[in-house]
Amino acid sequence: MNYRHAYHAGNFADVLKHVVVTLILARLKVKDRPIWVLDSHSGAGLYDLASAAALKTGEHLQGVDRFLAAPGPPMALHDYVRVIRDLNPTDWPRVRWYPGSPRLVRELLRAGDRLVANELHPEDAVALQAAFRGDPRVRVRRLDGYMAWKAFVPPTVRRGLVLVDPPFEVPGEFERLVTGLVDAHRRWATGVMALWYPIKDVDAVRAFHAGLRESGIRRLLRVELLVRAARDPDRLNGCGMIVVNPPWQLAETLEGVLAWLGPVLAQDVGAAGSIAWLVPE
Ligand SMILES: C[S@@+](CC[C@H](N)C(=O)[O-])C[C@H]1O[C@@H](n2cnc3c(N)ncnc32)[C@H](O)[C@@H]1O
Repeated sequence: MNYRHAYHAGNFADVLKHVVVTLILARLKVKDRPIWVLDSHSGAGLYDLASAAALKTGEHLQGVDRFLAAPGPPMALHDYVRVIRDLNPTDWPRVRWYPGSPRLVRELLRAGDRLVANELHPEDAVALQAAFRGDPRVRVRRLDGYMAWKAFVPPTVRRGLVLVDPPFEVPGEFERLVTGLVDAHRRWATGVMALWYPIKDVDAVRAFHAGLRESGIRRLLRVELLVRAARDPDRLNGCGMIVVNPPWQLAETLEGVLAWLGPVLAQDVGAAGSIAWLVPE
């Protein structure tokens, strides 16, 4: 386990992922009924953008810093901005503390909602335990992320989200995502699941999409953000999310958000946000 998210926190990929998660939760919370969230690869939960790791890469400069400096963000992004602002009350809109996915989700939960934050790395799992101690809505677990997906799905509260955000540090991650989804979908066909993936080698992404199509699972929404044309397979040119069972109106909201976000996070020619059904109803 070499991957450390502290080097990447607040980058453009985090912004896209966290915006999508925020919008999914907003739609799920439209009804009064409680929701349940599993974050299978949680990370540390809170990141210091002034740390040596963050300063070494400076990735957040092209991500959340640009995002917050851009004029006229769509109203739909208000919740995401609010969570970041609440962590940075002084010097706003300068950001030092950036929320990882479990922290973001926790800030968006209502009293009756629940979160299982799973993380295998011992240091990050300990940090999560400390951060969420005393919050009865959150349980921290230290399992392999794919095991957690198996172990906790289906939840007893049948309305909710699974976020699967693996590190892609060893080969076979795309295949594990498809296999994991097929298994989880068999047990919880109505659950919303959001799978993050990098766009480096476009052939690998195409094969991933083909595997998802062949799975027979329907209602798969593909959300992608390229920060430059995907010509160099060794660079993170963009990223995407597959949203299974996207809540009502998520696609429409995301369309407007991506039209704004694409130019804000663009780094070179060929940058664009896009959204389409990989497999419709
Ligand atoms: C991309 S980061 C997660 C970032 C986090 N979801 C966020 O948005 O803030 C991937 C995380 O997976 C963890 N990880 C690596 N292998 C794992 C495994 N087999 N099971 C669970 N977590 C794992 C890493 O330690 C890392 O924290």
